[in-house]
Amino acid sequence: MRALVYHGPKNVSVDEVPDATIERPTDVLVRITTANICGSDLHMYEGRTDVEKGKVLGHENMGEVIEVGDGVDRVKVGDMVVLPFNIGCGFCKNCGAGLTGFCLTANPPNAGAAYGYADMGPYNGGQAELLRVPYADWNALVLPDDAREKEKDYVMLSDILPTGYHGTELAQVGIGDSVVIWGAGPVGLMAAMSADLRGADQVFVVDRQPDRLKLVETIGATPIDDSTGDAVQQILDATLGEGADRGVEAVGYQAHDHHGNESPGLTINSLIAAVRPTGRIGVVGVFVPEDPSAQDSLAKKGQFAIDFGTFFFKGQSMGTGQANVKQYNRQLRNLIHRDKLNPGIIVSHELSLDDAAEGYKNFDDRLDGWTKVLLHPDGR
Ligand SMILES: NC(=O)c1ccc[n+]([C@@H]2O[C@H](COP(=O)([O-])OP(=O)(O)OC[C@H]3O[C@@H](n4cnc5c(N)ncnc54)[C@H](O)[C@@H]3O)[C@@H](O)[C@H]2O)c1
Ligand SMILES: [Zn+2]
Ligand SMILES: [Zn+2]
Repeated sequence: MRALVYHGPKNVSVDEVPDATIERPTDVLVRITTANICGSDLHMYEGRTDVEKGKVLGHENMGEVIEVGDGVDRVKVGDMVVLPFNIGCGFCKNCGAGLTGFCLTANPPNAGAAYGYADMGPYNGGQAELLRVPYADWNALVLPDDAREKEKDYVMLSDILPTGYHGTELAQVGIGDSVVIWGAGPVGLMAAMSADLRGADQVFVVDRQPDRLKLVETIGATPIDDSTGDAVQQILDATLGEGADRGVEAVGYQAHDHHGNESPGLTINSLIAAVRPTGRIGVVGVFVPEDPSAQDSLAKKGQFAIDFGTFFFKGQSMGTGQANVKQYNRQLRNLIHRDKLNPGIIVSHELSLDDAAEGYKNFDDRLDGWTKVLLHPDGR
């Protein structure tokens, strides 16, 4: 089969690799119709993780089931499915509690597994013609008969929509809240959509990319351009000096100022300053325990200075981590089916798998207008 393979920093190509197959009775085999490129893929693409060379990338996957293992009861050949980026077993302590981003079975001794992802187990990704799905009865979300028609919307259930929603859940966004989100990438935009869904009053999204700030407006939130003035001050000014009720971090450890200088604590410290006393902050941007390519010695160990005194004095709290996609994907699927959510509006490019390397480059360069890239390995 053809698949997008990681060879080293900024070096990926579409190669012929052995076909994915059923390896255990609980697997299904999916013919991928759409696999997205994600901001998380860029951490790997840029050589900022220890992902192994030869790995097939792609954790935002949707397609048609073409074969099922002997132990699969629920999922059928012909079903259109979207796969949570996390691989869970369904029976460990964390999966049993709904914390499917932290499965204890799929990638021991770590908690959490994913397709095509650094440090998340041996699983290949779905930027490929075929994908093996382990524990498929647990992991595969079967889609209704409008699956192909609304493919751009449903594929967002694999990661960024539930992840944005998770940010608002960690921050406990509720009716009438003001919410500030750092980062207007796909995850930040989905967090803004989710905050709206949960009844937020004002939603601010901070970034400096003009095309992304425009999308913030399109989805009905307020863009804050931090290249034209201190973003924290802009939030305080917009909330009568009080600060927003809730905050979401949707940038991650490669946060930088608008001149491009990296500083992993930038967004967390801005959120501590821009969220009101007793407010909650949800961190879904990825932070890592080791970052050998970082510029300073603390950051190399995944550490940075945080304004903990202010955080304590303000009585704030913070939730973090990979999204437990399965906690939300079924409900969000139903909203898409009923035309109450249209996350696909952020899609900027749909490419064939053969153009994937170019897609990575343009998305990584944040070329104007490259917001969310979908790959179609089925030759569309
Ligand atoms: N927790 C999870 O389960 C999960 C799932 C998916 C993605 N993620 C992570 O979420 C983060 C965002 O993902 P994405 O796909 O939207 O990525 P992205 O790279 O497309 O978007 C990040 C955005 O942040 C902006 N930015 C950078 N520094 C900033 C700063 N200091 N202030 C304001 N904006 C800043 C960039 O301009 C960019 O628009 C990444 O770290 C990704 O790995 C986490
Ligand atoms: Zn992703
Ligand atoms: Zn598990």
